[in-house]
Order: sequence, then structure tokens, then C-alpha cells
Amino acid sequence: MPSTNAKPSLQLNAQGQLRHFLNIDGLERSLLEEILDTADSFVSVGEQAVKKVPLLRGKTVANLFFEASTRTRTTFELAAKRLSADVLNININTSAASKGESLKDMLQNLEAMACDMFVVRHANSGAAHFIAKHVCPDIAIINAGDGSNAHPTQAMLDMLTIRREKGGFENRTFAIVGDILHSRVARSEIQALKTLGAAEVRIIGPKTLLPKAPDSLGADKVYYDMKEGLKDVDVVIMLRLQRERMQTALLPSEHEYFRLYGLTNEKLAYAKPDALVMHPGPINRGVEIASEIADGPQSVILKQVSYGISVRMAILSMTMSGQTRPVTAAAPINRAPQ
Ligand code: CP
Repeated sequence: MPSTNAKPSLQLNAQGQLRHFLNIDGLERSLLEEILDTADSFVSVGEQAVKKVPLLRGKTVANLFFEASTRTRTTFELAAKRLSADVLNININTSAASKGESLKDMLQNLEAMACDMFVVRHANSGAAHFIAKHVCPDIAIINAGDGSNAHPTQAMLDMLTIRREKGGFENRTFAIVGDILHSRVARSEIQALKTLGAAEVRIIGPKTLLPKAPDSLGADKVYYDMKEGLKDVDVVIMLRLQRERMQTALLPSEHEYFRLYGLTNEKLAYAKPDALVMHPGPINRGVEIASEIADGPQSVILKQVSYGISVRMAILSMTMSGQTRPVTAAAPINRAPQ
């Protein structure tokens, strides 16, 4: 149930329900738990012979990926299709954006086609927020990753993976390792873990790949040494080097980075014996993670991908319920047979 304490905001309606999903920051624990509970209830849909439920029949979801993606785009598409929505995958490279059409004009044209939801990935931090606030406030906007700011659906699928594999967050210690400076995943992950009651969240990386004020991210401890930082942790979340967001050379070499910060059996031995190894993907083998770890018994990297479908089903269905837009002839969900 939506929290009665929640104040209306860009993300929440007056009843405290999600109407956009832009950021973990500012969302209450009860709402994050509702997302996880809803996602849990959708896991079984993927195990059925017919992997479909009619919750979003008659609704149209447009995937707008202005930046490369494999996992997020395809799992959003599968999630929307499993909810029986119609899905538009807009190919930005072959769209009229290449003829000079602005983002605002493109989105308003899609709105005129009675799209109900936009899933937006963009290289600029704040892009999804800007669209929700200034361009299409009556369409549910889901942030699928904006610059180095936020990747809230990735954070929630990681939370579902942790909850299902470890039972919860309390009394557990988490380490997020690598290129924290450029990572939208790290920002959303820290917010989600702390909101859900994690006992301790550590960040580990070289000084050049941590923010100037690492405390500002909300983690409990900062480590520059991998073996010290991994000591007795329950979950290790590895990050790739996000070279597309690096302005200057911040590393001596990939070989040296792997020696110091790459996850190997030797370094993982400092964590608890049953520690989970996670990675949002794409993984770079031999750079931030050894193949024997990525494919090893403690890795849940591919489970994260599977749970991503259930979490995205939960977020699509919850934001659709939270939108207050009146149902029109162009979106006759109420008249569709159930
Ligand atoms: N984790 C993640 O966002 O992967 P993609 O870039 O493939 O979507």
C-alpha cells in the first residue's frame, strides 16, 4: 500500500503512489518494499507457459534510448510485453532527430500518438526529470539511466536479487567497487541500500575514480584498498570503468587497474565465504572482474538480469496506476476484456 506519510512530488501523486520513476532519492522504505513485493509477485509470470498478464492491455510504452543499452532496453521491452502493453522501440539513429527535430518535438509527437509511458535513457544527467517536469508531465516517465546521476530500476533489480538471495538488508555489509565517480548505478544503489536498512555500505576504488567528497554519496565507509574494503562483506557489487564519461586519463592502464581493483579469487577470499558477487553489466572480463568470478558459484550476475524483468514489470504497472491522466478514447483500457 502507498505510504500515508508520502508528500506529493514530481514522482508521487497526492495518494503517495508512483506516477514517474526518476530517482530512488526521496522515496520511502515502504514504497521501495512495495516495488519489491510487486516484483516478487511477477517472478512467476516468467515461469509460466504463457508469459503474459493483461494489466497494461491497451497501453502503449515507448522505449527512448539515446544511449547504448542491451539489458535495460530489452528487459523493459519484455516487461511491457508480459504486461500486454504495446511497445514502440524508437531507433534514435534512424528517427527524425537526425533531420534536426528537437527532443521536445519528438516527445510531443509521440504524446499525440497517445503513448502512455516513456522509458528514457539519456547521456545527460537530469534528462528524464526534465521531460517529466517540463515536456510530458501527463505521461509516466521511467528513468532508464541518466548520465552519471541515477539508474533507479537497476538499483531496484539489484535489491530484489539481494532480498531473494540473502533474505534482507539488515545486519549485512555491502561493498561497491570501482569507478564510483562516473557511476549512476552506485548513486542509486547506495540510496536504495540505506533506505532499505543496510547495516553498512562501503565504496572502494582509486582516488581518481571516487568523487572529491566521497562522503557526499551517503556510503558509510570509503576504502582505497580492495582487500581491506572487502573484509567480511556479504555482497560485492562490481562496476565497470565508464570510459565514455571520463574526460581525461584517470588510470595508469587496464592491466594495472585489474591488478589493484579487479575481482579475483584471491581478493574475494577476504569477503564472507558465502558473499554474493554482483555486477550491473556490461562486464569487462580481465578489467574489473576475472572470468572465473563472473562465471563462478558466487556470481548472481545473470540472475540480476532475470529479476530485471520482474522489477520493470512492477515499476511499469505501478507508475501506470499512479498516473492521474483521464482515460480517453485513444487509451480504452477500461473497455478491454479482462
Ligand atoms: N546495466 C545496464 O544498464 O546495462 P545496459 O547498459 O546494457 O542497459
